[in-house]
Amino acid sequence: MTRKILVTSALPYANGPIHLGHLVEYIQTDIWVRFQKLRGNDCVYVCADDAHGTPIMLKARELGITPEQLIEKIGAEHRQDFADFLIEFDNYYSTHSDENRYYSELIYNRLKAAGHITSRTIKQAYDPKENMFLPDRYIKGECPRCGAADQYGDSCEVCGATYTPADLKNAVSVISGVAPEEKESEHYFFRLQDFGTMLKDWADGGHVQTEVANKLNEWFKEGLREWDISRDAPYFGFRIPETEDKYFYVWLDAPIGYMASFRNWCDRNDVDFDAYWKPDSDAELYHFIGKDIVYFHALFWPAMLHGAGFRKPTKICAHGFLTVNGQKMSKSRGTFIMGRTFLNHMNPEYLRYYLAAKMGSAVHDMDLNLDDFIQRVNADLVGKLVNIASRSASFINKRFDGRLGPQLDSPELYRDFVAKGERIAEAYENREFSRAVRDIMALADQANQYFDDRKPWVLAKDEKTLDQVQGICTMTLNLFRVLMTFLKPVVPRIAAEAEGFLDIPPQDWQAVRKPLLDHAIKPFKPLATRVEQASVDAMLEESKGTLEAKNTGAKGNGQLDRNPIAEQIEIDAFAQVDLRVARIADAKYVEGADKLLQLTLDLGGEQRNVFAGIRSAYEPDKLKGRLTVMVANLKPRKMRFGVSEGMVLAAGPGGKDLFILEPDSGAEPGMKVK
Ligand code: MSP
Ligand code: ZN
Repeated sequence: MTRKILVTSALPYANGPIHLGHLVEYIQTDIWVRFQKLRGNDCVYVCADDAHGTPIMLKARELGITPEQLIEKIGAEHRQDFADFLIEFDNYYSTHSDENRYYSELIYNRLKAAGHITSRTIKQAYDPKENMFLPDRYIKGECPRCGAADQYGDSCEVCGATYTPADLKNAVSVISGVAPEEKESEHYFFRLQDFGTMLKDWADGGHVQTEVANKLNEWFKEGLREWDISRDAPYFGFRIPETEDKYFYVWLDAPIGYMASFRNWCDRNDVDFDAYWKPDSDAELYHFIGKDIVYFHALFWPAMLHGAGFRKPTKICAHGFLTVNGQKMSKSRGTFIMGRTFLNHMNPEYLRYYLAAKMGSAVHDMDLNLDDFIQRVNADLVGKLVNIASRSASFINKRFDGRLGPQLDSPELYRDFVAKGERIAEAYENREFSRAVRDIMALADQANQYFDDRKPWVLAKDEKTLDQVQGICTMTLNLFRVLMTFLKPVVPRIAAEAEGFLDIPPQDWQAVRKPLLDHAIKPFKPLATRVEQASVDAMLEESKGTLEAKNTGAKGNGQLDRNPIAEQIEIDAFAQVDLRVARIADAKYVEGADKLLQLTLDLGGEQRNVFAGIRSAYEPDKLKGRLTVMVANLKPRKMRFGVSEGMVLAAGPGGKDLFILEPDSGAEPGMKVK
């Protein structure tokens, strides 16, 4: 029976470009979808831009355009990026659509009618200049515990304290720079706690990976709480029915965007929407997402669907995050790579292949090691796979007028290859792509070995053994055709070019059961070329470039406005601060902290352990051996990651530009700074 399968990837926000981290998800989903289609299943892949919310509203304002114009522009860029990475959606839509408004209202109204929506008044930070409520990340100030400057409204990156925006000292609105006020407003809530039993059963039902099930159990233990689903005007989104100025929080209508995109596709293709979404539907529903958005997809979303009388997902497939060269993608290292930048220098299928070769079904993070990338693509795709075709095709083209012979030289080996297809298919089905790729490459080794053993180049010297040469090359090209078909979900364009060269129609999984005999092929053209180190270097260089260009615009304006100078102090107070020259003896990343580096500071006779919020600007290796100025008599403070025994002085607007003060040469560790 053909399975009916609806597949989604998370909807990327419409306020920025697609980067390689995003692509992990879209490539993973696309490979799975292409595999299902190749197997003859009825599979539909939909996605959309996530177009609503405060960041998009503010970004549009900053650019002096309407949010509609912004999402239009970004939407077009996203579509182009995806198309160029060969990600083939059946429909790519936007959450800012009539269909999405319709389903958002429908689901909300049904939840409300069933008593799952409540409302009450809450207090929230308000920007009196902009006349808007401020999400926590739009408020910055000094940490109430350690005094660190420039901390967000919910927690301190330096000491790990958590608090509410009202606790911040000298808090300012990131948007206007003025101090926020507290203001009351009525909010609407979705009663997630009404769905506890249902969710527990669902989570136990094999719909999520083990790691996710464990996480869900933790959340169940903590207790499910109601979820704030409304935001006050001004907000870019859908107005909540029967309100004047309340809007659905972006995360309410975002997953509904899956339905809306599918609905839009159904209408254009005359497909019955309800057959997929009714509670007892026999269609399968798969959501591919990143690990950061599990809460929304494994709690809120099934609860919303259930409460509104729709079916729940068959499976939530969560993946981990991408690191580059073993570290979080970093703008200063040039490893925060946009999809477009990659495309400017490299064949998209190389990324697809490399990621597939590393992807499994677990929620593990995944590393793009660029040296390994070059090595792997060149060795596997070019060296092994394409090589099978190029070496055998040259005989067929030159000696046999481009014709494959009437029989295979080794039918058993061919049957073996075809039979391996089931194991490979099972790996694809279970999202164990690395296993599928490993199996395919092992077969490629076998095919090359077969060719080497038969030595057709020797047989070709003798007229009497020419028939054998044709049989061997026919065999080899047939093995190549099987492997190319198995790898087609990963490298669809190379596979299509191979079909062109073999002069055969697009192959499905079953097509390879019958070998290709007595058939004319086309002249061979190289199907893939080697990746050069120079292309990778150029890509990293370009990635650094986009960063610098962006930074200049934001520099230098409004620093004082946003960060008013503190009250005056007496000279005695300053004299109490003992500033010393210190040598950075060691510097390390701190696991789990985005902004921190752990420094060992040498005061010339005494060493100090200090945590400094300068990770955005410096790689640890660049700091070792350098001099800096530190506050040497600061009371040791216990921080989330350990005890900090002092503070280093740094200045700058932030991000990459944070400068460690480097005293003139001649300074010695321990020297007093005057
Ligand atoms: N708009 C929400 C999703 C709404 S779904 C109803 C969102 N958008 S996002 O643009 O931030 O991320 C889109 C997807 O890309 C998410 O699944 C996210 O986990 C994934 N990734 C973003 N950065 C990533 C990496 N560095 N690595 C792997 N996946 C990453 O979240
Ligand atoms: Zn703090």
